[in-house]
Amino acid sequence: MPTLSSSSPASVWDSVDGIAFGGDYNPEQWPRDVRLEDIELMKEAGVNLLSVGIFSWGLLEPREGEYDFEWLDEVMDNLAAAGIKVALATATAAPPAWLVRKHPEILPVTEDGTVLERGSRRHYSPSSAVYRRYAAGITRSLAERYKSHPALALWHVDNELGCHVTAFYGEEDAAAFRRWLERRYGSIEELNEAWGTAFWSQHYDTFEEIIPPRLAPTSLNPGQQLDFMRFNSWALKDYYRSLLAVLREVTPGIPATTNLMASSATKLLDYFDWAKDLDVIANDHYLVAADPEREIELAFSADLTRGIASGSPWMLMEHSTSAVNWQPHNRPKMPGEMLRNSLAHMARGADAVMFFQWRQSKSGSEKFHSAMVPHGGRNTRIWREVVELGSVLGRLAPVKGSRVESRVAIVFDYESWWASELDSHPSQDVRYLELMRGFHRAMYLRGVTIDFVNPAADLSGYDLVLVCTLYSATDAAAANIAAAAEAGATVLVSYFSGIVDEHDHVRLGGYPGAFRELLGIRTEEFHPLLPGESVTLGSGSLVAGRKGSVWSEHVQVVDGTTEVLASFTGYPLDGVPAVTRRPVGTGSAWYLATLLDAEGIDALVGRLLNEAGVVASAEASAGVELVRRSHADGRRFLFAINHGSRDATVKVDGEDLLGGGRFGGVVPAGAVAVVAED
Ligand code: GLA
Repeated sequence: MPTLSSSSPASVWDSVDGIAFGGDYNPEQWPRDVRLEDIELMKEAGVNLLSVGIFSWGLLEPREGEYDFEWLDEVMDNLAAAGIKVALATATAAPPAWLVRKHPEILPVTEDGTVLERGSRRHYSPSSAVYRRYAAGITRSLAERYKSHPALALWHVDNELGCHVTAFYGEEDAAAFRRWLERRYGSIEELNEAWGTAFWSQHYDTFEEIIPPRLAPTSLNPGQQLDFMRFNSWALKDYYRSLLAVLREVTPGIPATTNLMASSATKLLDYFDWAKDLDVIANDHYLVAADPEREIELAFSADLTRGIASGSPWMLMEHSTSAVNWQPHNRPKMPGEMLRNSLAHMARGADAVMFFQWRQSKSGSEKFHSAMVPHGGRNTRIWREVVELGSVLGRLAPVKGSRVESRVAIVFDYESWWASELDSHPSQDVRYLELMRGFHRAMYLRGVTIDFVNPAADLSGYDLVLVCTLYSATDAAAANIAAAAEAGATVLVSYFSGIVDEHDHVRLGGYPGAFRELLGIRTEEFHPLLPGESVTLGSGSLVAGRKGSVWSEHVQVVDGTTEVLASFTGYPLDGVPAVTRRPVGTGSAWYLATLLDAEGIDALVGRLLNEAGVVASAEASAGVELVRRSHADGRRFLFAINHGSRDATVKVDGEDLLGGGRFGGVVPAGAVAVVAED
């Protein structure tokens, strides 16, 4: 494992005035005259930070050991002269052709043994010793050359690690996996116990017998699968750390990060674990154009990123001004949507608003991906909106450094995501995020902001804690969650939570083993629902007449203080509790045994918020996204984003940072207000 020096680098926030604004800049795709025009356009838009050189290794080192830095020197000098800072990339996200020809063993291998070729990008395995050596080489060359450059503000290590290829199954990966397992378990007996290898003759005599979970006749050992996911997350992070070690050595004062992809789509990297090695959290987010509620998915990603950042301001390293090129149908953003998206990220904690990319490519596979400077040039809607955004961000400088207010926590655990969706489970339709996103949506629509927190995180600041499908729970996590209820929080635990420990071993004695006592319930058998099947919840109850899908179970109440707030109706679960509540300490512990429909979730959320004493960020018309950021000195900012097609009212008094003057109480259709509150 690479060792890092303990020096503490500067903060990127100190290098950039106000909110950071810019994007990926790929000047190598353009001749000098265009690059000079770029500088003028950047000044016009108010750009102050760019990610440079992400895919430029092939041009920086066209032949092994022969470097061509002159073009980059000129770019860096021109940016510095214009007062624009650079997040300089290590250029390692796409190895050059000469390197792959010389060392084809660096290429990634898939679970069926297919070697992924060059001609695209990200064609290397992070465990390849040869690749690491060359990647460290170009990183060191860049660091040495630009260590004193006035434009250098941040290192952008590699790019979207784990994008395209998340798991690596080659021989060198297998060897690294074995070493990782040896460190984790110490002895092969420990591993045999953890993986339960007495089953199906899977016993191992030595670590050398172990391979990655490659394509096999039927379901693979769950412990092997789970550890391989842990390993892959670690291996990519370890590769990141190997480059970080070089950067720390040469430029100890320059902070470093890499752009994460935290969203509902990126499952296989444990970003809460990664966060410890990033000087600032940076995230990329792209809307799914076909999703009619894409702004809610954006909020989910932004909230998750803030959770990974432990609430500190983070960087939106990439989003798009308009269409992307990689969805089946790449629809542009509507007028005003890019501003709403940008400020929604900012509302949820981003102090940098950046894009892929600065100038739209004219060739290559991303030529139809939007950019800040589109194919049509300056006389375009996109360019006008980019310039407007730059000016808006300038007016929002007072928000910089503030933190998002929230009294509701949703527990988020990548390991439970991995483990809950392994094969051979009671139902393949239990998706880790489904109920969680339902709760997040209901809170969003009610103007209540949630924080995503790790199961072992400090929950003391929260009045309401939601634990959704936390299938795998450690003893520490279970105790932490129970302690939150004891200390006064309203805690809700959902179906398929606390079923197994960290080794995917069932907690015996009745489900949900980790939370049975806390909830005062016990389930002997699950009753997963078939696709399209639903159960109706009993009349007179909190969620009377609402439907549940995906899951139900034979819940029994085993504690005299546990109340039943809703029951299933109809054979075979007629009268079986579906929602329960147990008073615990000065708080309470609720159980939800099915995936409620949207109205049901909203009704439940209403009751939970009421009990927890949590109210919306402000009173406003429906359809307005509301989030509040505040400084420790008491200055507060309400972001009100009107995604609707009608003007909306928002009750808040203060200064209108975007429009100027006093806030008049109305946010026009499609517009955003940021109010510096009195
Ligand atoms: C990712 C990459 C970028 C670019 C964009 C396109 O985020 O980091 O290089 O390919 O996708 O959306």
